[in-house]
Amino acid sequence: LARCQTQTRFDCFPEPHGASQQACEARGCIWNQQSQPQSVPWCYMAPGVGYKLGSQSGATYSLKKNSGPKNPWGLDFPDVQLTTKTYGSILNVKITSGQRYEPPVDFPKQPATSSEQLTLSTDASTDVFSFAVVRQSNNRKIFDTSIGGLIFSDQFIQIATYLPSENMYGWGENTHQNIKHDFSGYLTWGMFARDQPPNSGSLDTMNLYGVHPYYMLVEPDGKTHGVLILNSNAQEVTTAPGPSLIYKTIGGNLDIYFFPGPTPEQVTQQYLSFIGRPFLPAYWSLGYQLSRYGYKNLDDVKARIGAVRDAGVPIDIGVIDIDYMDRYKDFTTGSNFNGLSSYVQQMHDWSMKLILIFDPAIEVDYPSFQRGISANAKFIEWENANQVMHSIQDMYPLAKDTKIMLGVVWPDNHVAFPDFFDPTSNTQNWWISEFKNYRSQVAFDGIWIDMNEPSNFGTNDPHPWYFDNPDHPNAAPLFCPMNNSWDMPPYLTHSVWRFGDASTGAYLATNTLCLLAVQANNQQRFYNTKNLYGLSEAISTQQALFQSTGKRGAVVSRSTFPSAGRYAGHWLGDNTARWEDLRTSVIGAQEFNLFGIPYVGSDVCGFNGDSNEELCLRWQQMGAFHSFFRNHNTIGAPPQDPAVWPSVAAASKKANLFRYQYLPYLFSLHFIASMNGGTVVRPVFFEFPMDTETLNLSEQFMWGKSMLIAPVLKQGATSVNVYLPEDRWYSLSDMTYGIIVSEGYRTMSAPTTSLIPVFVRGGSIIPRQTPAITTDATRQNPFEALVAPDANGNAEGVLYWDDGETIVKDFGSHPYHQWQYTYNFTSGGTTRLSIKHSKSTTVPVPTLDILEIFDFRGTPDYRSFKLNGQTVNINVQTSSYSPITKRLYISTKG
Ligand code: NOJ
Repeated sequence: LARCQTQTRFDCFPEPHGASQQACEARGCIWNQQSQPQSVPWCYMAPGVGYKLGSQSGATYSLKKNSGPKNPWGLDFPDVQLTTKTYGSILNVKITSGQRYEPPVDFPKQPATSSEQLTLSTDASTDVFSFAVVRQSNNRKIFDTSIGGLIFSDQFIQIATYLPSENMYGWGENTHQNIKHDFSGYLTWGMFARDQPPNSGSLDTMNLYGVHPYYMLVEPDGKTHGVLILNSNAQEVTTAPGPSLIYKTIGGNLDIYFFPGPTPEQVTQQYLSFIGRPFLPAYWSLGYQLSRYGYKNLDDVKARIGAVRDAGVPIDIGVIDIDYMDRYKDFTTGSNFNGLSSYVQQMHDWSMKLILIFDPAIEVDYPSFQRGISANAKFIEWENANQVMHSIQDMYPLAKDTKIMLGVVWPDNHVAFPDFFDPTSNTQNWWISEFKNYRSQVAFDGIWIDMNEPSNFGTNDPHPWYFDNPDHPNAAPLFCPMNNSWDMPPYLTHSVWRFGDASTGAYLATNTLCLLAVQANNQQRFYNTKNLYGLSEAISTQQALFQSTGKRGAVVSRSTFPSAGRYAGHWLGDNTARWEDLRTSVIGAQEFNLFGIPYVGSDVCGFNGDSNEELCLRWQQMGAFHSFFRNHNTIGAPPQDPAVWPSVAAASKKANLFRYQYLPYLFSLHFIASMNGGTVVRPVFFEFPMDTETLNLSEQFMWGKSMLIAPVLKQGATSVNVYLPEDRWYSLSDMTYGIIVSEGYRTMSAPTTSLIPVFVRGGSIIPRQTPAITTDATRQNPFEALVAPDANGNAEGVLYWDDGETIVKDFGSHPYHQWQYTYNFTSGGTTRLSIKHSKSTTVPVPTLDILEIFDFRGTPDYRSFKLNGQTVNINVQTSSYSPITKRLYISTKG
């Protein structure tokens, strides 16, 4: 009944200027301003928008434009086709019209299995044809387009659906204030890759660096499904009453994939079997990283890394931003970084690693570009020679007679953008050879790719800070012709309108190249491929890393698209040193795990603005629980590495030691995600979808299914109000170590001097190691197992282990170990821990020397401790048992 009363309004005037009753009615739309809150569209489409059924043949429905209202942004296609397909339990519904643009992505599309089945049902009883996707087990419509509003024209496509609940997660890349979406009004979010720093200070629906048209929804009974709309054009989504969803895109198809779950983790596994599972990061890349933009010289780097090491803070990775380059040209070293290659050797001697930044933009007058031209590498181009801005082009002999679209980024002179869709592979091969070449000079271990939306400074809107800068005397901005349907399509999307329109300097091409640009020998239009640029660069860069280092390493990319996680991780971009940003980064990292990019984290302590002691301390403590863990800062901001403040150094040391101790568990989670799909950092509702309290927990998260982390995110706070779902939880906090904390909301003390609240879930066995100052040194230490029994005294866990650096070609042939741990307490008084070595290889492994068992029942007798039936000597000096805490600690070593 509620649903019948809800009339979703399809906005007929989303443009920022010019709405009036007259203009609205001129579009054939309805104007109703009275008593409507601002968020409800005042100008909306009359009912009846859509298509009617023409004919049906098997899984193909031929639809015809009905006599309902017309689309204000283009000529409706008179005929569209809806077809369905399945990939195991994944249901695909595709709506298209003739031959339309298909994103050139290489998804494995492996069929997924599920206990649940989704089917299509259609309703052709009215002039507004609709379909629903139905969960067979309970007949629930998880997607129901009977709300109407299907529009299909060349450059404006819309679909709307009722949703079975408001428990919706995902869509990106945006800054979300809460993990669960807001359906209280009409909120529209842009999705279009742009060099756009997140703004967490207030609700901001801007589109950021990547595009993820994917959401997950928890239905009223806890069953969960996922939905991908495979589309690479500029697009937007509106959450509306109903609850309902309105999706719009300005090209391609409505190519929609439904993943049945029924658990959230299964949805993620199904999604990743389709788009591809994440790469396995090198073990060292789970170590702590120190970075900043604006190091003055190599000595500056050495001083800050040295200070952190001297403070005893575990650190694995030095990261150097564009400062190391000669005037910001890729594959060069500036004179102030002379000695970088020997410093890398020094870092390697310390078992540390180096990650260097590389931008896609290549200055068009130096050897790397020269080699590219000689190798017939391709760059993003104008379509016709007569579009070229010759006054600029002719300044550069190497670019003079080309159609390359020149831009302006960090280097002094103009730049070109490699075309990673080059079908000949010349571009990819040249890119790889540049990395190999540079690697022979500076032995970097990981690659950071930035500015790959791609970002271009001052397109259509020159920034005085750049163009009035004597450092760049030649710089002249790119102006895009506006008389074309790529740069000026009829519908510009929220990504533009959020900032205004042409009258306020807002264009699709803002901060990027002109949308009429072409790639792949004119076969691809940048209008369609722009959102794929970061993905295409990540694919080639992962190859460059493999071939230049021969090792697994890690690539991190700013711009991402579905499947980018196969090739790269991600950081959440240029946040600000504010408490709000610390909070939203907790949400962002969980969302990227939903997107299949689990190697993710934020700029710890904040990028823009000046950090401060308390904020930095709390961010270090939280960041220690994100897979990608990097302190990064902008140019000109004061240093914020943990050695700056003794209190931050102490807290970071504690947090990092904890992280390093539990790395075998974190690594195992990555291993499982890579091999089978799934998340690493996981929203709490993933494990407890039936517990409605978990559905909007934005400030805590899980590591896999067994650890729950509740960071301190508020200034001045010395405790956290943590929600523990119904289960058994053991605290790992210093002051309450090993005790059982009962479920519900609990206030946990969290002074700055302690670890943030962390809990282990009953029933778990967590593999760990005694921590050291680097991951490499930690890996040499004996294994430990932390046993946290459930209410019946049982527990289980797994450990995956490999050499941490061999490139994974496929898991079938990859050399790794796998152990399964099972712990049982029997009423007869025997306690048994069985370890099954279910997969083994020659990679050396430390011995398991330490067992820590919480809630040990009975009285331990060390003399009766047996290993494989043989009595073992326990070190009674280092072993202990307290009948009060029931904590048993057994060590076979002194
Ligand atoms: C933008 C990146 O987001 C930031 O992390 C980096 O420091 C600057 N570019 C400079 O390379």
